[in-house]
Amino acid sequence: MKRVTFCAVIAAFLACASLPLIAQDTPPPQQQRRPMPAPTNLQVLPKDISTQDLMKMMFGFTGALGVKCSFCHEINEQTHQPNFAADTKPDKKIARTMIAMVQDINSKYMTQISDPDATPEMKTVTCGTCHRGNTMPAPFVPKPEEHQGGGGQKPQ
Ligand code: HEC
Ligand code: HEC
Repeated sequence: MKRVTFCAVIAAFLACASLPLIAQDTPPPQQQRRPMPAPTNLQVLPKDISTQDLMKMMFGFTGALGVKCSFCHEINEQTHQPNFAADTKPDKKIARTMIAMVQDINSKYMTQISDPDATPEMKTVTCGTCHRGNTMPAPFVPKPEEHQGGGGQKPQ
């Protein structure tokens, strides 16, 4: 039940997100759709971000960390309605720092790398670059044999 309601909300978001595209060549749909509320609590992302770009990013987060929206966003236990603007979940706050970090990495540092062979995707750090489907990036421990003859550090 909880999941059904939540999915319906997400479906509504997606429907709203695609409305501007549809609106260009079709008359407004007959059924009343509640307009997507404008974000009220963006502190890191641009305040005028389009619904479409915001949702694309949010779905990117769920994929990169292997989570649902509720990992970062509060859902009312009684009504099962999400409150996306609320800052009650600690992971939403961590995510803000992570967004700012990724913006800095790309704008300040990746722009200094002029590798003609690298495609734009290759030189763009995303949440997935580190997280790879996990909430906590897995520590990388090189296999001991990879060091043989490589002159690297001895495994501890
Ligand atoms: C990894 C954490 C994370 C996940 C997962 C996540 N979000 Fe977010 N979301 C955030 C953060 C952080 C912000 C605020 C960004 C800022 O302050 O600029 C936000 C903001 C929003 C907002 C704007 C709220 C407002 O009024 O300010 C909406 C809507 C939203 N998210 C929807 C979703 C949906 C739908 C999903 C699932 C598809 C989702 N989010 C998944 C972290 C997350
Ligand atoms: C440069 C690598 C890197 C990138 C890129 C990165 N993260 Fe992280 N993230 C980490 C590390 C390392 C931790 C663990 C930090 C800790 O626990 O102190 C972490 C932890 C988190 C957590 C807390 C997880 C938990 O279990 O509590 C969230 C949420 C998160 N990151 C969201 C994001 C989002 C959203 C993005 C993209 C905007 C992102 N991260 C990009 C390295 C990264």
